Amino acid sequence: MKAVLVGGQYGDEGKGKIISHLALNDKPEIIARGGVGPNAGHEVHYNGKKYPMRMLSCGFVYDKAKVMIGAGVLVNPSVFLKEVEMTETEKRSFIDFRCPIIEQEHIERDSKSVNSQKIGTTKTGCGPTMEDRVGRRAKRAEDIPELKKYLTDVAMEVNKSEHVLVEGSQGFMLSNYFGTYPYVTSKDVSASSMAADVGLGPTKIDRVIMVIKAYTTRVGNGPFPEEVKTEEAEEIGYQEYGTVTRRPRRTSKNLHWDNLRYAAMVNGATDIALTKLDVKFKGNDGVREFDKLTNEAKAFVKEIEERLGLSVTLIGTGPDALDIVDRRDWRI
Ligand code: GTP
Ligand code: IMP
Ligand code: MG
Repeated sequence: MKAVLVGGQYGDEGKGKIISHLALNDKPEIIARGGVGPNAGHEVHYNGKKYPMRMLSCGFVYDKAKVMIGAGVLVNPSVFLKEVEMTETEKRSFIDFRCPIIEQEHIERDSKSVNSQKIGTTKTGCGPTMEDRVGRRAKRAEDIPELKKYLTDVAMEVNKSEHVLVEGSQGFMLSNYFGTYPYVTSKDVSASSMAADVGLGPTKIDRVIMVIKAYTTRVGNGPFPEEVKTEEAEEIGYQEYGTVTRRPRRTSKNLHWDNLRYAAMVNGATDIALTKLDVKFKGNDGVREFDKLTNEAKAFVKEIEERLGLSVTLIGTGPDALDIVDRRDWRI
């Protein structure tokens, strides 16, 4: 089975945590990252440790998995090498030889750009590197000696393997095609693009998991309905801070149903993974069985299923990879 996981909101839905559960539970041979690049910040809590991941897949927690970065993804070599060291995955981390390289100059250009102010970019150099890629001026992973031993043909590897999880990053509303343009990231981030990023054709994908958080957050500028003040978000325990930029995230207490329905349609979602149900409703911390959730929490899950016409098969009840209700009847 091959599954793609994507964000259904503005990023930071908790994809890292769902990925780490799927990796530990389903034991896929490969977890391959798609998406833009190190503008993403996935945080994984496992075995009492916290790992902030920007380049490498959060699926590293399953120690037999190969973790790969697809050709579509922009690579910052120093971020990659640091994460390989931190996670001790030197022998099982791979980069597609075609990945474009983010250089210091791109980071400087991003930081000084009009967009860094106007859009509130992550200043990780992703936008300018994407411009150079489109302009066919970008340096590639195969040009960097330090990366040599990690290079592979990821497309070939994922097509040869039977059990593959594709880890998307960012979220649908940040898609350059479908999101709140121009307040978006530098490419499309829907499931089709994630599959293309690692070299999987549309007919090869069996499941698409769309991750949504029980409330909505956004970091950076652009339209954001029903936004509440930081003080109110702090008071109700929803206030978050960015994994990459440490910026306070903007908060809305509600789900934006029209956007979610649209996102589910374009992503071709087959499953919804819901995170932070424990933050939204007290009394659900660390619950691992659906029947043990509070009635209020169960009713919310049911409402999502009715409104989106999809099953909520994974439910996050805490930050740890193991704090989850898994109702799937399938495995990768
Ligand atoms: P992006 O690629 O930037 O979108 O990252 P992400 O989707 O992986 O999310 P990010 O790591 O930025 O934020 C998620 C944070 O919430 C992490 O610290 C997770 O451990 C935590 N988290 C995820 N799911 C749950 C949950 O169900 N309950 C609680 N309490 N925390 C969660
Ligand atoms: P860029 O991708 O750094 O160019 O930033 C463009 C916009 O996307 C900004 O509003 C960023 O805050 C947002 N963004 C990019 N990647 C992520 C992510 O992984 N999570 C949340 N927001 C992101
Ligand atoms: Mg994040």
